[in-house]
Amino acid sequence: MHKNILVTGGAGYIGSHVSVRLHEEGYNPIILDNFSNSEKSVLAGLKNITGKDFKCYEGDILDPSILTKIFSENEIEGVIHFAAKKAVGESVEKPLEYYKNNVSGLVTVLEAMSQYGCENLVFSSSCTVYGQPDELPVTEQSPKKPANSPYGNTKQIGEEIIEDTVKSGAMLKSIALRYFNPIGAHSSSEIGELPLGVPNNLVPFITQTAAGLRDKLTVFGSDYDTPDGTCIRDYIHVMDLADAHVQTIKYLENHTESSFFDVINIGTGRGNTVLEAIHSFEKVTGQNLNYEIGPRRAGDVEKVYAQVDKSEKLLNWKTKYSLEDSMRDSWNWQMRLSRKS
Ligand code: NAD
Ligand code: UD1
Repeated sequence: MHKNILVTGGAGYIGSHVSVRLHEEGYNPIILDNFSNSEKSVLAGLKNITGKDFKCYEGDILDPSILTKIFSENEIEGVIHFAAKKAVGESVEKPLEYYKNNVSGLVTVLEAMSQYGCENLVFSSSCTVYGQPDELPVTEQSPKKPANSPYGNTKQIGEEIIEDTVKSGAMLKSIALRYFNPIGAHSSSEIGELPLGVPNNLVPFITQTAAGLRDKLTVFGSDYDTPDGTCIRDYIHVMDLADAHVQTIKYLENHTESSFFDVINIGTGRGNTVLEAIHSFEKVTGQNLNYEIGPRRAGDVEKVYAQVDKSEKLLNWKTKYSLEDSMRDSWNWQMRLSRKS
């Protein structure tokens, strides 16, 4: 029997790629999504890749009755909790929506897990909890900095809620994965990131500019203390990230302590500047990107990239894809989206 893993937010960008990897590794992903930031066509993409109709419940993590339905209809081995709102700017304007969805939503999921004796939880956290770290590469021991947005705060609070639950002696084994910057798409171009409206993130903005949907890309600042003056990030291919989740589920299953919480960085360990990312895109696609240097964006950190020793050791996992692979797959996905619209 294949083990069931509940994937909240499984129709979203990262959750859909993780569902593919879970299936490939012999798990049975069960998706719960309210489609507030995804489309039902994702399910067709998943079927085209895997040949399987994944079980999908349309509903909200804030609704305990849908969780009761899922846990009573299926034996759930573990939960990977992606469902959350993720737009930093929007979270500043609508903080209560973010605290309700991301914080109350997590509490509802934890309550259902406890009620049904489900012990394994992977939580989507973010490198945003580090702010601008004092030392690079950033290790899991680096102190958390005050969050610079309600969104970032929901990730810090989420980690604390899980840690407190574990400290209380609850039968819960959980790892918060602190993702760096996920980019790329499945190589089939059947699934990828669906940014609604004008994208905030760099790579969707690059691909939309190259596709003619945006006039030009503005590089936010060139006077940072980095080799070419632009910010440094650790860009990780979403399929590498997906693989890390499967390894984390396996790790939790094999972990003997019944109450346990840990945090793990999930990045490549390499930092690239914005200009390097642009040039990598230009190289793999043969396109000349229309970009200009503009002012800094408020709230941006100068440089951050992961120390990956802990993920490699505990999860027996390493990234396989290069920045160029990610750019190629992001571009193929953009072209697929442009053909569809
Ligand atoms: P996404 O928006 O593509 O996916 C989230 C999914 O959750 C969407 O399908 C959405 O419809 C669903 N959802 C949201 N609220 C829900 C609710 N109340 N009930 C049911 N479903 C709900 O986002 P993503 O990029 O796949 O991110 C997944 C997780 O990873 C999020 O928790 C996000 O904060 C975290 N994260 C993302 C990034 C990134 O750059 N993409 C970086 C760090 C952390
Ligand atoms: C952003 C969020 C962060 C979140 C992360 C992953 C902010 C302040 N931070 O981080 O909380 O965890 O996304 O979802 O929004 N850039 C440009 N031009 C653009 C867009 C981006 O030059 O049009 C630059 C940025 O200045 C940055 C880099 O590209 O240096 C990456 O930006 P982005 O993709 O938005 O990710 P983060 O800023 O790392």
